[in-house]
Amino acid sequence: MSSVESLKQIYEANGQSQVFTFFDSLSESSKAALVQQLSSIDPERVSNIAKSVLSTTPDSSSETEKISPLPASASASLLTASADEIAQWTTTGHNLIAENTVAVVLLAGGQGTRLGSSAPKGCFDIGLPSHKSLFELQAERILSLQKLVSRITGKVNVVIPWYIMTSGPTKQPTVSFFRDHDYFGLDPANVTFFEQGVLPCIDNQGKILLESPDKVAVAPDGNGGIYRALVDQAILPDLTRRGIKHVHAYCVDNCLVKMADPVFIGFAASRNVNVATKSVPKRSPIENVGLIVSKDGRPAVIEYSEISAEMAHRTVTAKNREELAFRTANIVNHYYSVEYLTGIPLWRDDYLPYHVARKKIPTVDLVTGQPVSPATPNGIKLEQFIFDCFPQIKLSRFANLEVLREDEFSPLKNKAGTVGEDDADSSRADLLKQGKRWLEAIGASVAPGVVGVEVPPLVSFAGENLEQFKGKSFSSEIELGQEAKI
Ligand code: UTP
Repeated sequence: MSSVESLKQIYEANGQSQVFTFFDSLSESSKAALVQQLSSIDPERVSNIAKSVLSTTPDSSSETEKISPLPASASASLLTASADEIAQWTTTGHNLIAENTVAVVLLAGGQGTRLGSSAPKGCFDIGLPSHKSLFELQAERILSLQKLVSRITGKVNVVIPWYIMTSGPTKQPTVSFFRDHDYFGLDPANVTFFEQGVLPCIDNQGKILLESPDKVAVAPDGNGGIYRALVDQAILPDLTRRGIKHVHAYCVDNCLVKMADPVFIGFAASRNVNVATKSVPKRSPIENVGLIVSKDGRPAVIEYSEISAEMAHRTVTAKNREELAFRTANIVNHYYSVEYLTGIPLWRDDYLPYHVARKKIPTVDLVTGQPVSPATPNGIKLEQFIFDCFPQIKLSRFANLEVLREDEFSPLKNKAGTVGEDDADSSRADLLKQGKRWLEAIGASVAPGVVGVEVPPLVSFAGENLEQFKGKSFSSEIELGQEAKI
């Protein structure tokens, strides 16, 4: 039997023979391309995943009984921690960075469909006075932190390696963007791109969708694809080769992200945890955000809808502050010990569940062969979530650090002028306002009506090094001059 015939049989045995609908009418080169793509897909795995996601019923309300806020032993907050505690975490973090044991992993494989930009999100200009892209801001933060740590600890050659996870759609434009910008001043030897996997898109009956007569519709397998990719793309041995012990993973779309944040690294390392998270306080009981909680005695991230209205509104008083009991909004800022990451091969294949993302997926009519551009969701992208590994971690090896939203979290999700939040306008304003707070804290002033000032990461990583601007007044939204470089 020819290899094409045996491939057909495998797809047929798994109920997916529709992918061959147009095969006989294709040119030889299109046939070869389709066969190559189909050979890289395991139809049995896809059919099994489809079966399991399509038969899953939503959680019953009795589930809420198993959900409680994280215990105090697994929580800390920058809003209430003492200055001494924060200083200790910071010093620990600086020392670990100085020993070259800290790396950052960027999740940049998403397609940014809500933003609607054709380029990867990291290339986006949020409209700052400098017009720096998100990638440039992040690269400068690494450079700035390396210099800061070197200055504080006296260590030379401080390196924070940057691992950038891309996907089929974002890989080539991301790599080209870095090349075209000379890696924004970073040493290319310390910037590693790696690619997450893709999965076929399915229809509501679990059938693999064709994007065109000679191509299966595929999509990145979600940010939980990081675990598979860290193994398949040989990132774990690279971490070990470099002597990395601590990893900070974060999302590309947060313009305020403090990469390799010494406070966070120091906090997590001094607690000797496998995984730590950062959270921000929920804005209101009804804010639609994922929550980091304890579920069945294990850490977990749940949808806001998984707790009752009573639980969402419940308050507690801690250190004379009344707060929501369930307030730990997930911002996908994770710490991992490398010791934990090296165990991924033991669980990655069967631990993480798949989730259904119903999307408008361009496809082809199987009868006419004509392209179909659906106006409403017609199919499913299968995704794994990065936080779904949490329930396998004991609460004693997990910790959450609550941080200030205005200092650390402003996601770019939506096209400006559509939803009215989490867009380029809010990102720009939040970054400028942070600069304003930092400058006012050292005795500079910003004129009324001016949103703020852009403080380049190369001038200040987290508000330090600004004393030279004491007494200055700013009457427009400018980028601070490069003369203040550290
Ligand atoms: P989102 O879930 O917000 O997705 O990603 P997105 O692609 O940015 O935007 P939409 O939903 O299509 O509008 C959160 C983070 O996870 C990364 C994204 O790049 C972002 O940093 N991500 C998402 C991946 O790395 N891979 C994926 O498959 C999905």
